[in-house]
Amino acid sequence: MLQTLPALTDPLLYSRGDPHAVWRTLRRESPVSWHEYGEHGGYWAVTTHAAGLEVLTDWERFTSTKGIFLRPNFKDPYPGAGKMMALSDPPRHDRLRKAIMGLFTVRAVSRMEERTRKVVREALHGVVEAGRCDFVKDIAARIPLAVSAELLSISMDDVEMLAKVTTDAAENSTDIDGIDAQEAHFEILRHYSSIIEEKRRNPGRDLVSALTSAQAEGLDITDDEVILTCDNVIVAANETTRQAVGAGMLALLESPGQWRGLRDGDLRLKPAAEEFLRWTAPVTHILRTAQHDTVLEGVRIRAGDAVTVWLPSLNRDEKVFDRADSFLLDRTSNHHVSFGGGGHFCIGANLARLTIRVLLDELAHLPAEIEVSGEPQRIGSYILGGLTSLPLTFRPS
Ligand code: HEM
Repeated sequence: MLQTLPALTDPLLYSRGDPHAVWRTLRRESPVSWHEYGEHGGYWAVTTHAAGLEVLTDWERFTSTKGIFLRPNFKDPYPGAGKMMALSDPPRHDRLRKAIMGLFTVRAVSRMEERTRKVVREALHGVVEAGRCDFVKDIAARIPLAVSAELLSISMDDVEMLAKVTTDAAENSTDIDGIDAQEAHFEILRHYSSIIEEKRRNPGRDLVSALTSAQAEGLDITDDEVILTCDNVIVAANETTRQAVGAGMLALLESPGQWRGLRDGDLRLKPAAEEFLRWTAPVTHILRTAQHDTVLEGVRIRAGDAVTVWLPSLNRDEKVFDRADSFLLDRTSNHHVSFGGGGHFCIGANLARLTIRVLLDELAHLPAEIEVSGEPQRIGSYILGGLTSLPLTFRPS
């Protein structure tokens, strides 16, 4: 039976197929299953909530230091492995995380609410005035970029450039406004070198300052790693939030009852934001590598094996979620894993939650009727799930 299923690494499964049907079968028949792939044999796919969390919360058995996403040659050394925060285990991981954690607490993030609201409101009112938009490009991509500009102390000009670079990366084209995407990306990295110097002289409440201060206090991190960490945060923050916002908006418009409930003020924003996150689960899988021979759900795993956890599948696990395949904004018990689990639990979760909550609040009060006006396009990727395009029309109400 499992041999007849489409491969989890086939991009077409995500752009045109039904990955949830595949995950449902895997959950039922083989929660820890072996899949052939790439140059090194294959990988284990973990699809249930319990087994997935067992992997994510036990770094002594399942390490992040060999990479966190599958690649065809995933056993080859990965740049930054063992060094970058996302690619390290304790104790290095704890030290890196502690250095920047202060920027992401509920209290620190709540200082960004006003700015986030202003950005969201302006973006929404702009598209209402225009009467139409591509929600992914004009709203979902812009909001997290503007928010992270503040977090990373980069200017809005750089944010504009970044918006183009990240959109380009998502769509796999090679040229944007005459600038090669990679070159534009390097430009941003070069820009950080100059702000590192500036922040050493005048530290502020931003990511670069947090890292350079920790460096001055003895944290073993080079300037290059500071730059890479900033870059990682930009990508981690923007790609994911954009997908949660874009795909969540489509789910909302496809569920008229939920949409009405939100607009009538019958739904609380916090649980609604959590359901947005459960439903969209933008990070499709996370990779870990077995540190030694072990057993997971009765299945023998060997040292060095790649073990992947499929987060959207965990979020639809019937054993954990009532009516798992329904989008219910008033869901009260919602143990979704869209932010992962264990020591690498998304450090930006509070910021992402704030962004989605503010967006829902502003949408609820938007004086316009909104309709889907063209075919939404889904991303063909087994790493990041969501939409590349969501055409909408707005009619003042
Ligand atoms: C809806 C939005 C988001 C989703 C779904 C998401 C998802 C995730 C997931 C699943 C992980 C765990 C990776 C692993 O276990 O290896 C993670 C880690 C991370 N996320 Fe997010 N993320 C989001 C927003 C953000 C934002 C807004 C930021 C920063 C401003 C951010 C920064 C990071 C960083 C730096 C890590 C690595 C943490 C560590 O290794 O300790 N993310 N994210």
